[in-house]
Amino acid sequence: MKRRRIRDVLASPPSDGPIDVCGWVRTKRTAKRFAFLAVNDGSSQETLQLIVDAGTTAFAALDRVQTGAAVRARGATKASPGAGQRLEMQVDALDVLGPAPAEYPLQKKGHSLEFLREIGHLRPRTNTFGAVFRVRNVLAAAVHEFFQRRGFVWAHTPIITGSDCEGAGEMFRVAAPDAGGEFFGRPAHLTVSGQLEAEFLALALGDVYTFGPTFRAENSNTSRHLSEFWMIEPEMAFADLDDDAALAEDFLKAMCAAALERCGPELAFLEKHYDAASGDALRALSESTFARLTYTEATDALRRSDATFEIPHRWGQELATEHERHLTERVCGGPVIVTDYPRTVKPFYMRVNDDGETVAAMDVLAPRIGEIIGGSQREERLPVLEQRMDELGVDREELSWYRDLRRYGSVEHAGFGLGFERLVQYVTGMANIRDVIPCPRVPGAIDF
Ligand code: 4AD
Ligand code: MG
Repeated sequence: MKRRRIRDVLASPPSDGPIDVCGWVRTKRTAKRFAFLAVNDGSSQETLQLIVDAGTTAFAALDRVQTGAAVRARGATKASPGAGQRLEMQVDALDVLGPAPAEYPLQKKGHSLEFLREIGHLRPRTNTFGAVFRVRNVLAAAVHEFFQRRGFVWAHTPIITGSDCEGAGEMFRVAAPDAGGEFFGRPAHLTVSGQLEAEFLALALGDVYTFGPTFRAENSNTSRHLSEFWMIEPEMAFADLDDDAALAEDFLKAMCAAALERCGPELAFLEKHYDAASGDALRALSESTFARLTYTEATDALRRSDATFEIPHRWGQELATEHERHLTERVCGGPVIVTDYPRTVKPFYMRVNDDGETVAAMDVLAPRIGEIIGGSQREERLPVLEQRMDELGVDREELSWYRDLRRYGSVEHAGFGLGFERLVQYVTGMANIRDVIPCPRVPGAIDF
């Protein structure tokens, strides 16, 4: 008999005969005539309650069953008289697959998230992290469904690269010191973005997207930054900034709708215990129209505001997180797309607007998170691109292939990058980005 997932068992009618389930014991309560075991196998937010009658061999085995132990139970499920669960299992046989001693670290409920970060290898066994990682999975699948349904081609861009897309110098070196010399003939790094490669694929395949890990050696210890994070980067040929903004809006709404549809129990749990965008907020977002502001309008709104900021904002400067949050939470009361940033704060590849001062950039700001998406229309005019490269000290020769794209059948094209962990943060309400990825990479820590 094969094991059944608890999620499927709980979604089914009572079983006709005995079935097998496997999982880890969350709690044990023993009375004179029977014992209750709450078992979770990671497939669902709910546990399955097992009832073990006194006098059975299964009951005798309970001595070795403590919180954290792995067990296999055989029995029939029946309607449960208890509150909070629909079904329970009357146990015929119980195998202790892997006992857990009394010092198992997850004894009680309500450990702090800080403590759980220290036991990163065990925290997925908690209700909280089970929920977060199942939501993460649903969102990842929804990303592919969204783009596949629209005919975008999933493009696999390299992890090891020779170019710094964002030009911010925040790259990790890749080297093979024992092989002698530069392994690839010249310095190589971990990619900060798959955009430049996605551009040449879009200029052949039309619409593409990447979904893979990216790396940034920025020394920022914040609740929104990781050194290794996953990014989704669509890139569209024959598309301008408006097309880009429309895609970003549809995409974020589709992600919220997917979470609402498939993660009901997880979201209910997270909403109760954390700051999850409540079902209502996710529903409102998935049905709303995102506000739009130009950077100049955003600057005016910040100037007019009576809020005090740690860093006062002036035209020509990047928006800090406090400004971004103010715009989305106070000024717009929901997600907002800010466009047309000063060219001085954005990378070389963004298309220069007719005013010569701003570029066709777009950041999507979300409540609680700030920037969740960054994108732009790309500079498709070779002379303008080369001028921007010189201006920002980007080596023309190293990117001669990128310049070629502007020589051979150049067309307007646009794309964006969504930080996947920021999306998971938004949906789950986890305040710290380290709590939405199994093994967070941040400066000074690589424990798991
Ligand atoms: O705004 P960024 O730097 O844009 C790019 O990399 C472009 N090449 C994307 C494109 O147009 N194809 O990063 C995009 C998004 C940000 O909006 C943010 O959500 C996320 O990536 N991000 C991070 N997420 C976690 N940790 C970090 N250190 C991040 N840096 C950026
Ligand atoms: Mg950005």
